[in-house]
Amino acid sequence: MKLLGISFGRKGRSCDIITKQVLLAAKEAGAQVKFINTIQMDIGHCKSCAACIAGRDRGGQITCALKDDYHILEEAVLDADAIIVTAPVYALGPVGQLKNFIDRFGPAHDIAGATHEQEKRKAAGAALLDERMFTRKYVGYISVGGAITHNWVSMGLPGFKMFAASSCWIPVGQMDVWDMGRRANPAFDAELMAQAGAFGRHIAGCEGKSPAAVEWFGDEGICPVCHNRFISIDAGAMADDVECPLCGIHGSLEIVDGKIRVAFSEKEQNRARGRWEGQLEHYNEINSMIETAIPKLMAHKEDMKELMAPYEGFEDTY
Ligand SMILES: Cc1cc2nc3c(=O)[nH]c(=O)nc-3n(C[C@H](O)[C@H](O)[C@H](O)COP(=O)(O)O)c2cc1C
Repeated sequence: MKLLGISFGRKGRSCDIITKQVLLAAKEAGAQVKFINTIQMDIGHCKSCAACIAGRDRGGQITCALKDDYHILEEAVLDADAIIVTAPVYALGPVGQLKNFIDRFGPAHDIAGATHEQEKRKAAGAALLDERMFTRKYVGYISVGGAITHNWVSMGLPGFKMFAASSCWIPVGQMDVWDMGRRANPAFDAELMAQAGAFGRHIAGCEGKSPAAVEWFGDEGICPVCHNRFISIDAGAMADDVECPLCGIHGSLEIVDGKIRVAFSEKEQNRARGRWEGQLEHYNEINSMIETAIPKLMAHKEDMKELMAPYEGFEDTY
């Protein structure tokens, strides 16, 4: 197994040390490991130019048109069999650089769209899309925060979910690490380092396993699919209609012996974002939007210029 560890933290600091501990243990368990720290990398944000999808649909490869260090990370990710992503919490969620990478990598590599395109190319005998994106990689997440209380890292791990969801890769576990301020250095905390080592051995042990055979490492959370603790409830909603907003699936909330339980049916779990059915649902959703939007644009062909005049004449004010 080729295991890549990516740290979005400062060089030589908490995220790096914890990630390296995972990699050291995985290496001992037989994995071939690689480590990348991204802090000095220039990974700009997606500008929504859609060149990645246009390239895919025109017979080319899925690649971002922006020229920066994103491509180094994309290549390393595609080349790995397993990836461990570690990011510090900034302002309650993962550092923006991780979100920048996710925005540029995730939607572009949507498995439903890519599979549809690959099947067309196979039927036509055309040049294929990079096969590496279709190999189901094992993915683990580590969120690292400085604050004493968990409520300061509440949107850390949930922010990692979309790293692998569009590709339908296999999440294998997570660590929610906070209180780094008082720890001073993760290496001072033997329990934390042992947990990171166990995570490394767990990932190495996933090699060759089907998604169903992979056991989850870490906090089980509330949602059985993403193992996060997020649940959204509409005001006045019935107890049998709560949602995991990360997976986009509905469940029933129960109170048993004073304890909250949320049950998600097998059917709902299968339509989670990050699973094949969920990705297909979203692919069809996007295509249906196009079908609705095009006739509207056609209907406004004549009055479009007049309709847009107040907005186009309104210049940026710096
Ligand atoms: C701009 C900024 C915002 C931060 N916001 C939070 C926060 O909301 N919650 C938290 O627990 N820690 C927060 N931290 C602390 C970092 O998560 C913590 O120092 C972490 O260990 C950094 O990882 P590193 O040591 O690998 O660089 C913040 C740090 C910075 C620089």
